Amino acid sequence: MRSPLIIAHRGASGYRPEHTLESYELAIEMGADFIEPDLVISRDGHLIARHENNITETTDVAERAEFAARKICKLIDNKTVTGWFSEDFTLAELKTLRAKERLPFRNQTYNGQFQTPTLREILTLAQQKTQETGREIGIYPETKHPSYFQSIGLPLEEPLVKILQEFGYTSSVSPLFIQSFEIANLKKLNQMIDVPLVQLLGEENQQPYDLVLQADKRTYQDLTTPAGLSQIAAYADAIGPSKRLIIPQTEDSQLLPPTLLIQEAHQVGLKVHAWTFRNEACFLASEYQNQPEREYKQFFQLGVDGVFSDFPDVAFKVRES
Ligand code: G3P
Ligand code: CA
Repeated sequence: MRSPLIIAHRGASGYRPEHTLESYELAIEMGADFIEPDLVISRDGHLIARHENNITETTDVAERAEFAARKICKLIDNKTVTGWFSEDFTLAELKTLRAKERLPFRNQTYNGQFQTPTLREILTLAQQKTQETGREIGIYPETKHPSYFQSIGLPLEEPLVKILQEFGYTSSVSPLFIQSFEIANLKKLNQMIDVPLVQLLGEENQQPYDLVLQADKRTYQDLTTPAGLSQIAAYADAIGPSKRLIIPQTEDSQLLPPTLLIQEAHQVGLKVHAWTFRNEACFLASEYQNQPEREYKQFFQLGVDGVFSDFPDVAFKVRES
């Protein structure tokens, strides 16, 4: 595969409702190397692609009278969340829902048309497209809320490993990265299957939720020190940092000089895949003057190994130029 890798963030989510087969398919047409499903689970144990288990913002569930009584308030990762949740629906019920665009300033014309895909359907798509295009299309699944799902008796890791084995993703060179913001589930996966793993790194003062549960005070900032990176390298192959850990910004969105994170990660053998690259002015620092290409160029020149992008066509164009 070419480098830096282009990872279609929730599919080509700048153009289609996120986490739909149609969004992943468009991303592949646009040149993405990997498609990224965030994973949650149904009541009957099927892995599906949604950014969070609260499916209110990205499906039409709130408009469906037959499910009105399932609206509920829950504590998820220490936050009170109200809505409808994947783990309260069977896969058959989830399949009756239709996806909708989350962001009001993006294209709403596809709302109501597409289903929520299963991981099985996404793996099938990736393998079909690999055959059709002659390009290896990788998948980059993220385990969402792994400690929470473990706590309710629906752990993500066992069904994930089972389906990956079924589809032949079982080696360190499989076209696959498994990512998580938590640590414990990556360490568990490292014992279960020999595939590439990615430690996601959030904002510097935040904590992985499994560390919160263990009363461990370390933050993502602590994980980015040379000592923290060495610890990550013991179980993972790459880090997935917020791009702000590479090029910090002031509170009024002025860019600051780059950190040494890329070089220090490379020194301990970790690849660096940064998130999230988006076209819209509200996501772009003013220095880029409304030209998202400039942001990709800067990160590519700094030596990043991959980018998560909502607009894989733009990332592809910059890489190929
Ligand atoms: O997984 C990398 C990036 O997707 C992390 O952000 O919140 O979009 O899953 P999120
Ligand atoms: Ca993600």
